[in-house]
Amino acid sequence: MEEKKIKKKCCRKFKKKGNFCRKCPVSASRNQAQKSAPDNSSIDRKKDSVQMKFNNILLIGFMGVGKGKLARELAGRIDYFAIDTDDLVESFENRAIRNIFKEKGEAYFRNLEQKVADWLAHSVKNTIISTGGGFIGVDNLNDIGCVVYLQSDFNTISEKIMGSPQAKKKIKKRPLFQNRDKAEKIFKSRLPLYEAKANITINTAGKSTREIADELLNKLKSVI
Ligand code: S3P
Repeated sequence: MEEKKIKKKCCRKFKKKGNFCRKCPVSASRNQAQKSAPDNSSIDRKKDSVQMKFNNILLIGFMGVGKGKLARELAGRIDYFAIDTDDLVESFENRAIRNIFKEKGEAYFRNLEQKVADWLAHSVKNTIISTGGGFIGVDNLNDIGCVVYLQSDFNTISEKIMGSPQAKKKIKKRPLFQNRDKAEKIFKSRLPLYEAKANITINTAGKSTREIADELLNKLKSVI
């Protein structure tokens, strides 16, 4: 009753803004409540934007193609967490990948990747997973989630790694990218494997992470 009176009075007196006038106390408190309420509709929209048939999104592709960056871009946009297989291996072993290669060798590292793959397939859902370039060697890749292949040509990739201001760091952490020619051979030998495992392929050359994410989200909608 009191509220009605105040509203009526002040709405006659002051300019209206939408349903409420700007200056009366009733409107002020309502406007404030509207501002501070969490925007659930946008959170729901985010979650609903991709109705996944697959639980996880698994990003594969050669070293340096931008799998980790894309995983982080996607996470914010579809309300999933992002994890990385190299991070999982490193935390499990409590040492850097370059040290695992140096001290235990590549075969040991590949076994760890398989261990990670088994864990992901059984225990991880609704997650974006970026992978190391050789993770396609695990025997259950397609059981983990929707496999997205980030494709690029070798020159673009090597320029991204070697032409970066952080080239030294990027090369140092990648035992299989110590020599450009050797890396190119590995690249060529892996192409058919990436293609064979992919549910979705995205050509990434010349595109920003945001553009790749837009393209992937559209493609994901069409595979459901
Ligand atoms: C590897 C790629 C690396 C890392 C390891 C081996 C590979 O990950 O897993 O050095 O065999 O291609 P990135 O693809 O993130 O560089």
